[in-house]
Amino acid sequence: MSLNTVRHNYKITKLDREKKHGHKAFLLWFTGLSGSGKSTLANLVEVELHKKGISTFSLDGDNIRQGINKDLSFAPEDRTENIRRIAEIGHLMVDAGVVTMAAFVSPYIKDRENIKTIVGDDNFIEIYINTSLEECERRDVKGLYKKARAGEIKNMTGISAPYEAPLNPDLEIITDNQTIETSVQTILDFIIQKLK
Ligand code: ADX
Repeated sequence: MSLNTVRHNYKITKLDREKKHGHKAFLLWFTGLSGSGKSTLANLVEVELHKKGISTFSLDGDNIRQGINKDLSFAPEDRTENIRRIAEIGHLMVDAGVVTMAAFVSPYIKDRENIKTIVGDDNFIEIYINTSLEECERRDVKGLYKKARAGEIKNMTGISAPYEAPLNPDLEIITDNQTIETSVQTILDFIIQKLK
């Protein structure tokens, strides 16, 4: 809690910026296990939106943890802080009128609920990238599951730390039995009507 600060209200609002961009702005939050395809899908969705002239930006767990959040571990309280900071950054981006993708494991329901409080319910779209642990482990693109099974990595989501799946996501993409193209199209179909 910051003491002795008083909020200034600026004359140009989110609405003014949305008008300038020619579309609404919101935060598309991709949650799911490591290796579930969050970043891949966020990336491709952004490409398609960009092609349509939509102003976009992407925030990604692996990238953000190499910069602004490099002081944070994967212990539960640090994940909470990771998500809180991203929610605040996402809020700023959305206020700037930009459609923002965020791809984070974000394994705790309470942390994802907190994003809604920070960004505002209307600005938040939760997309659950539902890929089974078996499939993520089979892909093991980064070799993390193998290391976690060998006990070399602590707090690995799905192995030695929990993943609390969304109970009521705005959109659920079950990737195990559909192509990347179909997943991207499903997400685009869902959000394009919301841009108007
Ligand atoms: S979150 O849980 O705090 O939301 P975040 O999305 O920022 O996680 O970072 C997850 C990425 O960090 C994974 O995609 C993976 O590459 C890497 N990683 C390293 N250690 C872990 C771990 N113990 N659990 C989950 N992901 C990990």
